[in-house]
Amino acid sequence: MKLLVVGSGGREHALLWALKREQPDAVLLAAPGNAGTALVATNLPIPADQIPDLVDAAVRERVDLVIIGPEGPLALGLADRLRGRGIPTFGPSGAAARIEASKAWSKEVMVAAGVPTAASRTFATLAPALAYIDSHPEPLVVKASGLAAGKGAVVCATRAEAASAARAMLDTRIFGDAGDEVVVEAFLEGEELSVLALTNGTEVAILPPAQDHKRLQEGDRGPNTGGMGAYSPVALDTAALRAMVTTRVLEPTLAEMARRGAPFSGVLYAGLMVDRSGNPSVVEFNCRFGDPETQVILPRIASGLVDALGACARGSRLPEVTIDPSAAVTTVLAARGYPDQPERGAEITIPDDLPDGALVFHAGTRRDEAGILRAAGGRVLAVTGVGATFAAAQTISRAAAERITFDGKQFRRDIGWREAARR
Ligand code: AMP
Ligand code: GLY
Repeated sequence: MKLLVVGSGGREHALLWALKREQPDAVLLAAPGNAGTALVATNLPIPADQIPDLVDAAVRERVDLVIIGPEGPLALGLADRLRGRGIPTFGPSGAAARIEASKAWSKEVMVAAGVPTAASRTFATLAPALAYIDSHPEPLVVKASGLAAGKGAVVCATRAEAASAARAMLDTRIFGDAGDEVVVEAFLEGEELSVLALTNGTEVAILPPAQDHKRLQEGDRGPNTGGMGAYSPVALDTAALRAMVTTRVLEPTLAEMARRGAPFSGVLYAGLMVDRSGNPSVVEFNCRFGDPETQVILPRIASGLVDALGACARGSRLPEVTIDPSAAVTTVLAARGYPDQPERGAEITIPDDLPDGALVFHAGTRRDEAGILRAAGGRVLAVTGVGATFAAAQTISRAAAERITFDGKQFRRDIGWREAARR
């Protein structure tokens, strides 16, 4: 079996690691991959947004299944183009990827489907947006509708801040076309939970939920990032919550998308806010695996991943995915200057005697001409600890994160603090 994973982050390294673990004899390809994916797969030097080149490579290599990691190529229609050439592909069509790529459309779908989410309005021009903000209770949230690399949502304590965020998006156009439309929404109180579900379009299989840490600094301070760490399982996750998420969030969303001519298959990621009574609202949908959530979810899948991804790709019945009861915690090591202007090029040293249960997933790394491992992106590595308990996993992840070195390394020592506080 030959599998191609598109993308170059920690999520893609974790996917390839999990595929290899389950199918040691499979031939694995990554495009473009990183220095970590090169340890388990052959990297093809094709950027993830080069759609025709990716399709040609998949055809030439006679790939049995393509798994698309990032939202960018999904929104550009990579899955449609691959399926058009007869290649089974895990990931939604370009039309269905709008559930992430257009927050305005995603809100329309949620409202039509009766899915709980913050009350919102969408604007394409500044004056009505400012008028709406002027009458909105504080705090409030202003979001660029399009893809903005995780930077498009601004939580505003005051109407004045919200007005300047709307102006920056609609007038100064800081996010370019991604800010053609702006969503203004109510602030939701609660605790966030990432619920990822595999779906073949009709059936859904919820994977072990995870909690991300979006802020750069310990104590959830500092700017929003792509995610500085994650853990799974999360005690917030109960059978009652899963049932609610399935019947009130996932199933109605999939049905409404199909009704609109954009049926979804792949992994639907519901970013939830869970309130004090345990009721979930959707903060956002993503059309792909989360990063760094994947680095804690996949190590907990004991079997069935490859078959499940294939079933989603082919639209066939979902097989059972079995979950390991162990806990996983991942700590992201980021470069100096992340998230604004990450420095590249620092030499990375990974000791060979990291604690048992430590998994090092590469995100922004490359090997230079001399074979030296160097930082090549904002998030450099994700260091996952797997252990019998949350505390054990947290200790392993943190200890390994301490011992890996590169100049400018930034990381949080408090990943999982909410879980630790609950216990
Ligand atoms: P998004 O890009 O929509 O996922 O938003 C990024 C982050 O901003 C989320 O993970 C939340 O932490 C925060 N956020 C977004 N929308 C809301 C909201 N309506 N209420 C509270 N926090 C929000
Ligand atoms: N960790 C958040 C995301 O993948 O969007």
